Amino acid sequence: MSTEKRSQRITVPELRARKGGEPIVCLTAYTTPMAQRLDPIVDLLLVGDSLGMVIYGFETTLPVTLEMMVAHGAAVRRGSQRACLVVDMPFGTYQESPAAAFRAAARIMAETGCSAVKVEGGREMAETIAYLTGRGIPVMGHVGLMPQAVHSLGGYRARGRDQAQGDDIIEDAEAVAAAGAFALVIEGTVESVARTITQRVTIPTIGIGASPACDGQVLVIDDVIGMFGDFTPKFVRRYAEVGDRVTEAASAYAADVRARRFPGPENCFGAGPTALARAK
Ligand code: KIV
Repeated sequence: MSTEKRSQRITVPELRARKGGEPIVCLTAYTTPMAQRLDPIVDLLLVGDSLGMVIYGFETTLPVTLEMMVAHGAAVRRGSQRACLVVDMPFGTYQESPAAAFRAAARIMAETGCSAVKVEGGREMAETIAYLTGRGIPVMGHVGLMPQAVHSLGGYRARGRDQAQGDDIIEDAEAVAAAGAFALVIEGTVESVARTITQRVTIPTIGIGASPACDGQVLVIDDVIGMFGDFTPKFVRRYAEVGDRVTEAASAYAADVRARRFPGPENCFGAGPTALARAK
């Protein structure tokens, strides 16, 4: 009898087979407790390099390091058992060459236990995507608005508004799919372009600000729960205001401490005979 524990995780081929079916539900997660909450609900947990902005307070995702992605990827892995786990490759770890990308991706896979990595880029990344997928590393692509290219793109504006730019994104998406990616994030892209890509590629598209035409949706969890207050993009729907609850809880605690209402008797360790004698 085999003693091998069968993985209950949604696999990469299972996700790929969801093309055109029930929409794929994806959220980002960066920590173990958040992964524990989201894992039973979503199909895919993405440890996005958006963590640089929402967790570390950077202005862009560019300063995010491989070490950060490995640490947070492993934390999310520890907090999940069902959702497919994908970890972003951070800026500078995969653009230089396919071999460099392989070394970084292999480290992410080995040290986090994730099922796949995500890379931003279009035609220029096709060779690297083929290199990784050909060597056992499943890759999720990411086209349209690519936050790691914020400086070349000139900001976080939606893409594909004119014909040339739309055609460019469609060609990028087709190249990424042809190179062997198993799924494709389309970010900040007008509906007609996202729809065309979704019709043309045989892999699931996962939209963020790319309309319901995609095969699935992803959002940054801190946006969804109202924890990231700096800026809420148009494509986000806030389902809770957890940030306000944190402020209320911290304010109530501070008031209790200042008024000596906290800690109360229920928060103190019981006084034994020695302590009672000492108090006399
Ligand atoms: O870094 C990230 O969280 C992402 C998603 C927004 C798709 O790439």
